[in-house]
Amino acid sequence: MTTATPIRLKSYQRARDAWPLDPEVVHLNHGSFGAVPTVVVEHQDALRRQADLTPVGWFPRIAEQVRAAVERTAPFVGAHPDDSAFVPNASAAATVVYNSLRLEAGDEILVTDHGYGAVTMGAQRLARRFGAAVRTVELPLLAPDDEVVQRFSDALTPRTRLIVIDQITSPTARMLPTRRIAGIAAERGVRTLVDGAHAPGLIASAAAQAGGDWWFGNMHKWPCAPRGSALLVTAAADRQDLWPLIDSWGAPEPYPHRFDTQGTIDATTYIATPTAIDFVEGEFGWDAARTALSALADSGAEIIADALRPFSAHDPLTPLPSPVPSMRLVRLPDGLGATREEADALRMDLFDEEGVETAFTSFRGIGYFRLSAHLYTEASDFEAFAERCVPQILRRAGIRIPLATTIA
Ligand SMILES: Cc1ncc(COP(=O)(O)O)c(C=O)c1O
Repeated sequence: MTTATPIRLKSYQRARDAWPLDPEVVHLNHGSFGAVPTVVVEHQDALRRQADLTPVGWFPRIAEQVRAAVERTAPFVGAHPDDSAFVPNASAAATVVYNSLRLEAGDEILVTDHGYGAVTMGAQRLARRFGAAVRTVELPLLAPDDEVVQRFSDALTPRTRLIVIDQITSPTARMLPTRRIAGIAAERGVRTLVDGAHAPGLIASAAAQAGGDWWFGNMHKWPCAPRGSALLVTAAADRQDLWPLIDSWGAPEPYPHRFDTQGTIDATTYIATPTAIDFVEGEFGWDAARTALSALADSGAEIIADALRPFSAHDPLTPLPSPVPSMRLVRLPDGLGATREEADALRMDLFDEEGVETAFTSFRGIGYFRLSAHLYTEASDFEAFAERCVPQILRRAGIRIPLATTIA
């Protein structure tokens, strides 16, 4: 697999032919909402059809099917099925864990300034319920892992009860040394929740690598499962305090089995998840896929940074200390994407006006293009971004493009 030529299926068709993505649109934001291969869409459709044909044949047997899907999905993240439960998404997993915790007034939860907003807000709500406080550990974008660990070690106090930390950060697309941090925390009696929303598929055996008391990861991001599929994994001694968000007939069952029954829901997202994992393994192999995605993401970042560089006060290429295989940050011109709201607005403008799907993030007042590459991504997608979106970005930043540059 090289970056110059498209990644190919075993049939030698282009990998992108395996996804039902709109060919009129340039897709450079896998990270936010994933993308489901046709074979997985068709499997899920077939399952839904079964449910519609014979509801009585389908619904009473959901729990068995969900458990069978857990048995096949948990090993992919290096977890034991008996420690693992499907939940609809990473946000739900965080809520499940927060709901299980009891704090005391004056206790403290540590989060980072790279944390996912919705998960951090959940921690704040947990703290409010008990009169506890949330404190933010600030991690410079380019802080090496040793510094990250040190900052956590320094931030722990006798009142710290919980650390919430990302295995792969959302706004800054970098890996954090969660295992080392969770180790130090455990020595001081502090528990760690690892947000691995982006980790399945990008980190081999992500849950096993994460450390901590609880881990969750989205299967609908990088493994390309249908949306509404995440795994919660824990071997914690108090895991019987974890309850699904929906009270249902599984209630008398212990963790994790009580999560397999959730009233009348569409569980096909869970049941079709192993099909997505097997698709990538069968066509490419996950190890080879990760290697290919790294090369693709590097070349994409260079193409776009090259286009922005002549107009930028800073080098747009932002090489992170612990990059992930498939995402890169390219710094936007000063003043653009300074807040999350501005970054999100830019995303929708470029989709509406240029037909390009992107993700922009904001960290400490600086805007970045967070580019994503998956197996369907081709170098021409990055070139299309450079041609269509860079002029728009420059215009929005108030930068005039000299005519000579336009002609060249
Ligand atoms: C780090 C992180 N945590 C949590 C989430 C929430 O995921 P979901 O919307 O699937 O609940 C995301 C989504 O992008 C994320 O990046």
